Amino acid sequence: MHDLSLYEGLTTTRTIRRYQDIEVTDDQLATVMHLATRAPSGSNRQPFRFVVLRDGPRARNVRALLAEGAAEVWGEKRARSEFSDGDPSPATVRMLASMEQYVATFADAPVIVLPCMLRYRDPTPSEGASVYPAVQNLLLGARSVGLGGALTMFHQTRETAIRAALELPDAAFIAGTITLGVPAGRHGPVRRRPMSQLVFEDQWDVSPEWAVDPAGTRFTGGPKNA
Ligand SMILES: Cc1cc2nc3c(=O)[nH]c(=O)nc-3n(C[C@H](O)[C@H](O)[C@H](O)COP(=O)(O)O)c2cc1C
Repeated sequence: MHDLSLYEGLTTTRTIRRYQDIEVTDDQLATVMHLATRAPSGSNRQPFRFVVLRDGPRARNVRALLAEGAAEVWGEKRARSEFSDGDPSPATVRMLASMEQYVATFADAPVIVLPCMLRYRDPTPSEGASVYPAVQNLLLGARSVGLGGALTMFHQTRETAIRAALELPDAAFIAGTITLGVPAGRHGPVRRRPMSQLVFEDQWDVSPEWAVDPAGTRFTGGPKNA
């Protein structure tokens, strides 16, 4: 177990897309999935389910489908030049290189988890609230055992084939595709917008005086079109 405070975990758990060639153990997976399945949900109904993909025959098939989906989605994003306007910053160049490598090696991620939600009523805009807390628990739980991960939506263009390969029931909605492994890089402070841009009191767009991030917090505005 990595002895990490909750505060540190929340402020430094970055998306990890590069993994060492080290096996994720059953014990690590058991802890990660225990923590994921402790998440809250509406009425404590616990509609979340997780399909873990390692090296079984179905896993190999679905890994290949996911890698195709990743290449397609990422290829389209790059083609739309969503990340630069001709003269990318060094940070953008690093991000593009990391994404290229991530997508090219997607099928080989040490572990892939498909978090799913068993629908029990017609889709509503808020239904994800009963599965995404479990996804965040999973990612933070991975951190607690020395792993890192990335949440993606790379299953979306191959969903029909993936559902068939895994024999998912119609009611199971695939909420994401998570890769997990021992990080090749390091975790570190996440960058977001200043709290004053994101937190209002009493009135929309009016930030209270107390909404000040701790000294040393690093910021980013995110992509231009966000
Ligand atoms: C809803 C959602 C969808 C995401 N989809 C993808 C994705 O398809 N591919 C990917 O590489 N990262 C994906 N991410 C990860 C984000 O890019 C990442 O969380 C964000 O850039 C912030 O970086 P950080 O987590 O390292 O701070 C997604 C994250 C969320 C919450």
